[in-house]
Amino acid sequence: MSSLNIVNGKLWTGSGFVDAGISIVDDWIAKIGKGPTLPKAERVLNAKGKFVFPGFVDVHTHLRDADYSYKEHFRSGTSAAVAGGFTTVLDMPNTSPPITNAQALKRRIRSAQGKIFCDVGFYGSTNSVEITRELANAGCIAFKAYLHKTINGVSFTSDEYIETLAMAAKKFHRVVCFHAEDRKYLGRTEPKTAKDHLLTHPPKAEVSAIAKLIKIAKKTGAKVHVCHLSTKDGLNLIKKAKRNTDITCEATPHHLLLTESLLTKLGGLAVVEPPLRSKEDVATIVKGIADGSVEIIATDHAPHSLKEKLGKNPRPGFPGLETAAGVLMTLVSKGIIPMGGIVSALTTNPARRFSLHAGKLAQGERANVTILDPQKKWKIDPSKFYSKAKYSPFDGMEVQGRIMATIVGGKVVFEDGQIISEPAGKVVLGKQIRS
Ligand code: DOR
Ligand code: ZN
Ligand code: ZN
Repeated sequence: MSSLNIVNGKLWTGSGFVDAGISIVDDWIAKIGKGPTLPKAERVLNAKGKFVFPGFVDVHTHLRDADYSYKEHFRSGTSAAVAGGFTTVLDMPNTSPPITNAQALKRRIRSAQGKIFCDVGFYGSTNSVEITRELANAGCIAFKAYLHKTINGVSFTSDEYIETLAMAAKKFHRVVCFHAEDRKYLGRTEPKTAKDHLLTHPPKAEVSAIAKLIKIAKKTGAKVHVCHLSTKDGLNLIKKAKRNTDITCEATPHHLLLTESLLTKLGGLAVVEPPLRSKEDVATIVKGIADGSVEIIATDHAPHSLKEKLGKNPRPGFPGLETAAGVLMTLVSKGIIPMGGIVSALTTNPARRFSLHAGKLAQGERANVTILDPQKKWKIDPSKFYSKAKYSPFDGMEVQGRIMATIVGGKVVFEDGQIISEPAGKVVLGKQIRS
């Protein structure tokens, strides 16, 4: 039996802070209470002046591994996660080989065991009803569909495919998540430069895809989730649709802070799909987090090699796990978004939407805890990342709020800038289906 007490910190209750400690026994929270009332423990972690949050949940991470291990692998990606305060991540299926059938998912789960520093759940992607059943039985947490491109043979070129997937998701009690860009409006040729990329991914591609998804959500009753929302008009459509459909959406830290003007300065390093947008789009999405119409913040951690980012036809995406907390807490300290909006979007909201046992500090819960120093100012330095991708569009930004320690399953895996334990994460499986 191992035991750990976290004392003297400000504990997040779900709506505010209280002065309380946590007693952890093995991998579970045994008690929450004032310091003196906690049972004695082998180790006491003094969190004086720190915020103690439920471990952050990222529902949109690309851990890569397998053929893409040169971009990132389970060890590097989940090290980046815990360094950023994330204790649960959901891994996207556009891997090589891709997670488009149960066999691939089972192999990926087996391969992840023993290498992950945080808890990891997996997406599957398919447009076949039979395979959705198999993927669900093999434990996928949710389904993902890329509307804008074919991912190793799986495409959603016809609305019928999208509807089929949405119906299967409903039947198997899974959320169905979409990369919402309508290929009808995307440029036909591969963009060669960063500026080209922007022109070939116009806002109307997202808005059109969202309009389509709303229709399908209404018709099927499925739990539909829009990934990395980037446009004001897209959010307005979703807001209206919430009255009579089960639709949610997520925003990334980069779409909450950065604008398309950064492309001129950073070129390929700032290329991402959907692209960075206008100031007006950013302001609307920021408001969405503050008013709760954007329920979830997800990183879309999408590492590529530096060569792939700087060459012709730059790959879209960049690492995000290690910058999210600093960037988001800076929005809080500047009074741009209230603390509750950010923390709910990183904990309770994603956990609830994806039916994960996570996001809460309470007796009996798995001991996943994130300790943050709200005063600590620091400069983002990608050369220090645990991710293999050592670049960032936030490079050099001065931020306030730093992860001091991350606890996964009762083990302190990250403390004072260092990974200090063996991989302590477990694979999180979606509910088995009966039919
Ligand atoms: O920027 C992106 N990168 N958007 C995506 O949808 C895919 C991702 C990746 O896998 O690199
Ligand atoms: Zn995407
Ligand atoms: Zn992604």
